[in-house]
Amino acid sequence: MEHILSILPKNPVALAPMDGYTDMPFRMICRELGSAFSFTEFVAADAVCRKIEKTHKILQYDEVERPVIFQIFGHDVDTIVEAARLVEEKKPDAIDINMGCSVKKICQRGAGVGLMHEPQKVIKLFSALKKIIKVPVSGKIRLGWSDSEKNYIEIGKILEGEGAWAVFIHARTRTMGYKGNASWEEISLLKENVQIPVFGNGDVLDLADARNKIYQYGVDGVLIGRKAMGNPWVFSDKKLNEISYLERVGVILRHLDLNVAYHGESQGVLLFRKQITRYLKGIASSSAIKQKLITETKAEKIHEILNNFQPESIPVLI
Ligand SMILES: Cc1cc2nc3c(=O)[nH]c(=O)nc-3n(C[C@H](O)[C@H](O)[C@H](O)COP(=O)(O)O)c2cc1C
Repeated sequence: MEHILSILPKNPVALAPMDGYTDMPFRMICRELGSAFSFTEFVAADAVCRKIEKTHKILQYDEVERPVIFQIFGHDVDTIVEAARLVEEKKPDAIDINMGCSVKKICQRGAGVGLMHEPQKVIKLFSALKKIIKVPVSGKIRLGWSDSEKNYIEIGKILEGEGAWAVFIHARTRTMGYKGNASWEEISLLKENVQIPVFGNGDVLDLADARNKIYQYGVDGVLIGRKAMGNPWVFSDKKLNEISYLERVGVILRHLDLNVAYHGESQGVLLFRKQITRYLKGIASSSAIKQKLITETKAEKIHEILNNFQPESIPVLI
């Protein structure tokens, strides 16, 4: 298998992993609109080792999604390494270790950003991964545990020293959660301190903003998370207000159909509810159909409602 670096486009901009959102259907939609690679939602290392079916399903991907990066989280070195060994059999292009999750029950157990708190464990982990895992490995980190405990440069250097192919960084600390602004100056500082590719992440608005960040901060690539929810066009050159209702509906319904194919109709439609409310944001008068859409259980009906709806103020550029 070719190394992920040789199959990635230059300065890639891609969808960030988001638990509960970036399943195969949404990743496919984003890929079709320009996202450069696929990053799975995280999976718990112990659930992988216990062969939990639901966990393994999260790692399903379509061949057209390559390059595909799997993401694992956990707090125990042996369990993470064993999980990586097991999922490697599914032939991802790379495996990432989550070192950024700030959810209390995850990071206080030493997983997610909790790993950054234990540099020695990170050394042990990546050193073991290097010996056992053949596909390239990376880490997705934050700035550190808190303002006074920022150790992203130390962790970045550890990753580099232990053979990681890249480092992904969300430029906030654990204490910040998702508040405040992502500190791109610090991403730039990390880039100056390591030789491996650095992917910046945090508060990126769209493709144009991502390109600016690459230019301004010298990063090798960018991940976009929340701004892609309900707006996969962030990966295209189009602005949302330039996209006709017809074109939007085409993408929304394709997403729905992919959801149904992947999750089955009842689960696919149910899971689509959180997506549809985001897709409809900003479409004037759509509140009239929103209620119907989020209570509907049949995909066919959703097609009908969206196809028959006449929005008031979205430009219809057929
Ligand atoms: C709902 C949600 C779920 C997330 N799940 C993951 C995850 O599974 N793995 C991960 O590394 N980061 C996860 N993140 C963090 C994002 O990948 C990203 O680092 C963060 O949202 C900042 O980027 P943004 O400002 O572009 O959203 C999640 C974020 C959100 C909002």
